[in-house]
Amino acid sequence: MIIAIDGTVASGKSTAARRLAQRLDYLYINTGLMYRGVAAYCRQHGIPTHDQRAVAMHVKFLAVDLRNEPDGQHVYVNDHDLTATATAPDIGAFVSDIADNPTVREVLVRAQQRLGRAAGNAVLEGRDIGSVVFPDAPVKFYVDADVRERARRRLVDDIKKHPTLTLDEVEAATRARDERDRARPVGALMRMPDAILIDTTRNAGPDATVDQMLAHLTSLTGQTCPTSPTKTQRDHA
Ligand code: DC
Repeated sequence: MIIAIDGTVASGKSTAARRLAQRLDYLYINTGLMYRGVAAYCRQHGIPTHDQRAVAMHVKFLAVDLRNEPDGQHVYVNDHDLTATATAPDIGAFVSDIADNPTVREVLVRAQQRLGRAAGNAVLEGRDIGSVVFPDAPVKFYVDADVRERARRRLVDDIKKHPTLTLDEVEAATRARDERDRARPVGALMRMPDAILIDTTRNAGPDATVDQMLAHLTSLTGQTCPTSPTKTQRDHA
């Protein structure tokens, strides 16, 4: 079964998606990491990410793979691990250029569909999973939280590198990213009518979000799902 998870930035969707996949023993596919991998490749090879034609020419020859490693999911482009560059704090604007590129989206959507179909049971997480990648997914979640709360969560991480950062600045940046994700001509972030809304604003942590998802899964499928992580799953989360 395919589980589609979309949602806003810093809503907690990535951690919840990864832990949900662990609890169900499904493959986890972080589609944002694939867009990040293409951005990292362009940076390393001096390809300007805003040049849609140049990027489109290159992306057709790229093999973008996700591999699970002990410290989490990594992205490989043409067999090179580009995870560090792909997740560097200054890559954001370049990744947004890449995500705006219709040819890149076509190539990556096809790769994501192949990965999901090959696995059979998979949790895919991104912005357009329930709308474009797997519009027929039997289970779709849309994860969101109040923008101030999402900014607060980002500030906890970002302040380590930028000690003068304020909550207002992070909130403004979060709103700007939401707008860019929603305004994208292809693959825009949206809540599909059949997606279950998971509001994480008051959740104490990712396990509360996963429990909410599992409760919905149980009522949708009629099958009981594991409601709390095993010790091994907690250790690897
Ligand atoms: O979830 P993330 O921040 O790692 O995503 C990186 C970028 O890719 C972000 O700009 C949103 C975009 N993205 C997308 O357009 N479609 C997806 N399915 C996943 C991510």
